[in-house]
Amino acid sequence: MADTVIILDFGGQYTQLIARRVRQAKVLSQVLPYWTKPEEIAALSPKGIILSGGPASVLAEDAPRCAAALFEMGVPVLGICYGMQLMAHMLSGHVAAASSREYGLRDVRLNNSEKLFQGLPEQLSCWMSHTYQVEMLPAGFRATASTDTCPVAAMADDQRGLYGLQFHPEVTHTQHGNDILKAFLFEVCGCKGDWQMADFAKQAVNDIRDVVGDGKVLLALSGGVDSSVVAALLHRAIGDRLHCVFVDHGFMRKDEPRMVKEVFTRTFPVTLVAVDAADRFMDKLRDVSDPERKRKIIGAEFVAVFREEAAKLGHLDHFAQGTIYPDVIESGAAPGSTVIKSHHNVGGLPKELGFTSLIEPLRMLFKDEVRELGLVLGLPADMVNRQPFPGPGLAIRVVGDLTRDKVALVRESDAILREEVAKAGLAGDISQYFTVLTGVRSVGVMGDERSYDHAIAIRAVTTDDFMTADWARIPYDVLALVSRRIVNEIKGINRVLFDVTTKPPASIEWE
Ligand code: XMP
Repeated sequence: MADTVIILDFGGQYTQLIARRVRQAKVLSQVLPYWTKPEEIAALSPKGIILSGGPASVLAEDAPRCAAALFEMGVPVLGICYGMQLMAHMLSGHVAAASSREYGLRDVRLNNSEKLFQGLPEQLSCWMSHTYQVEMLPAGFRATASTDTCPVAAMADDQRGLYGLQFHPEVTHTQHGNDILKAFLFEVCGCKGDWQMADFAKQAVNDIRDVVGDGKVLLALSGGVDSSVVAALLHRAIGDRLHCVFVDHGFMRKDEPRMVKEVFTRTFPVTLVAVDAADRFMDKLRDVSDPERKRKIIGAEFVAVFREEAAKLGHLDHFAQGTIYPDVIESGAAPGSTVIKSHHNVGGLPKELGFTSLIEPLRMLFKDEVRELGLVLGLPADMVNRQPFPGPGLAIRVVGDLTRDKVALVRESDAILREEVAKAGLAGDISQYFTVLTGVRSVGVMGDERSYDHAIAIRAVTTDDFMTADWARIPYDVLALVSRRIVNEIKGINRVLFDVTTKPPASIEWE
């Protein structure tokens, strides 16, 4: 059994990020609500406990508190931000409103002979976000770091193994943040750092078996990374008692439907229903050019097809979804995050289908962890490293009304672009790249003939979070090759454009 570190969640926006950093250090992390009983925590034999940040003030009457017994279990505890203030407050220190609220990057001076800071520079730029601060240390503690306005930016009691950080080591902006967390995990808690994604898979398989028992599970398989990884995981847990419905709406990329069918019949033989619904979708979309209407029609038709197919399967006990942590955050379901937009993935069970439980095994993982899990499970790298792809697919990459021919022009040009980007070894450097049928037709010459054909645009961006993006600097010779191949190999396209717009003001998709 790998060493476990418990993270008690006080509703901070970075709680899952702490969990991820711990996993990145190859230590198993488990997030539990702050009110978890000390006996339950002790039963997990944790090597350490981390108290997360949170939006409350420890001075408020209804402030969330952990059990005081946690500090006497002989297990090291690290309090971060609110967690540190709570530790100080509960151990009879004094917390008060800071004279100046610290938000953003601050210079923190630290004593680098302290356990958590050994070998680090004496001053670090750290991410702060607090209104209150520790004014008087609890007995047994000493201050180990400070800022200009915050005399206790970190505190320690080595004797009891209790530590506090007013700044956020889990945030990438904090210099050496990972080193500080690792010092806690390895130097203080004595973790071995031998946890692997394969262990996550094992645990998830056991959990799924516990919940599912002899039952059957239904999953909407889109062919995207997340639902594919869930399918592979469920296949390992329950084999062909997993029933997948794969709806091909006709707007998938080249070869995708074939790949999905092949992987989930050969490599992971689940019970697969693959529906070719392209005609149905195209009928509904005739003469529709408004992008939002396209999205609505496709979304509604997808649900209709899925329900019809699910109904044909008879009673299935459980419903699985590939919800990942950023979806949970985006939907506002996690504590401490506000509603950004309602996401189709979150929102509970489709009630009328009569399922007893919702299985979301990726709910706490970040995208790159999901990809790693997919590889561990044996999914093809092509599938696992897929670029983000909108639910309505190529339908929103044809500007204006849709015809089968137009969709084929995007599909074929997209395949050429993907092939050449991969050949040039650029796939890992560009976050997302695809082609768009612009809706513009223009005059050209082909041999001696005049043409009046479509203009295709290449959209390629680099981005960390897809909220903002820069256009990717694809070398000219690669662009030249892609352009030449597209106009030569695809009848109906006589002009290729390259989109050099950042987001904002443009979005990544054209729609
Ligand atoms: P925009 O165009 O808003 O796109 O800059 C941001 C990112 O979101 C992707 N996208 C979607 N992803 N379902 C998804 O899972 C969707 O309906 C959807 N629409 C856009 C887009 O490809 C880009 O990566």
